[in-house]
Amino acid sequence: MNVQIVSDKQAGGQAGFKIFQQAISQGAKVLGLATGSTPVTIYDQLVASDLDFSQLTSVNLDEYVGLAADHPQSYHYFMQHHLFDRKPFAQSYVPDGSNLDATAATQQYDQIIADHPIDLQLLGLGQNGHIGFNEPGTDPKSTTHKVALTDSTIAANARFFDDADEVPRYAYSMGIGSILQAKEILIVAYGEAKAAAVAAMLQGPVTPDVPASYLQTHPNVQVILDDAAASQL
Ligand code: GLP
Repeated sequence: MNVQIVSDKQAGGQAGFKIFQQAISQGAKVLGLATGSTPVTIYDQLVASDLDFSQLTSVNLDEYVGLAADHPQSYHYFMQHHLFDRKPFAQSYVPDGSNLDATAATQQYDQIIADHPIDLQLLGLGQNGHIGFNEPGTDPKSTTHKVALTDSTIAANARFFDDADEVPRYAYSMGIGSILQAKEILIVAYGEAKAAAVAAMLQGPVTPDVPASYLQTHPNVQVILDDAAASQL
């Protein structure tokens, strides 16, 4: 894995932007996108750039089950606000959280990924080492599936909701196996709270206890960290 350590989120946004720019200039047609606070500075750089996504496809990692696309805390809404409204893609896919039939929703999404193989997949990192919503213990061969969120993930995401009770308990997420199919992966982490997960991802054993550790098995992974996230390396 190729690790870049930067001073802060702004510098991380610029470094991430360059990786997107390079992938697109080399012919990337399908971008795998992520939510959470981490990708925001990259999206700000993409929005401010003259890159044109109108011929590209985006495929997002995950979505809460039970939130409609227009719910302000849904990942659909987040993507619309941070990127798609200002940089429309030819087609943008996010798992359908309003479809409560998990088998249908996840099979449909696997078909979308099969039809649109991902050239560059952006990832944030959970404090417990999750990627997408693949919590510790997830099968490394998993495809899109319904996930019961852990208490630590619910607590970490409660800041986006008025009350922790409003955080959905389930999500649809691409699996670890789906993520590892991407041709190139960019994972980004900022802050002290991610430092232990970063060390386990990069230097620990490849184990289901740390879903991000499976990135060690992928041939083309870029890692962007700030000093605090790199502090346990
Ligand atoms: C959520 C998302 C992940 C994200 C993680 C970290 O659980 N499902 O995709 O990487 O949070 O979020 P943040 O970037 O806000 O720290």
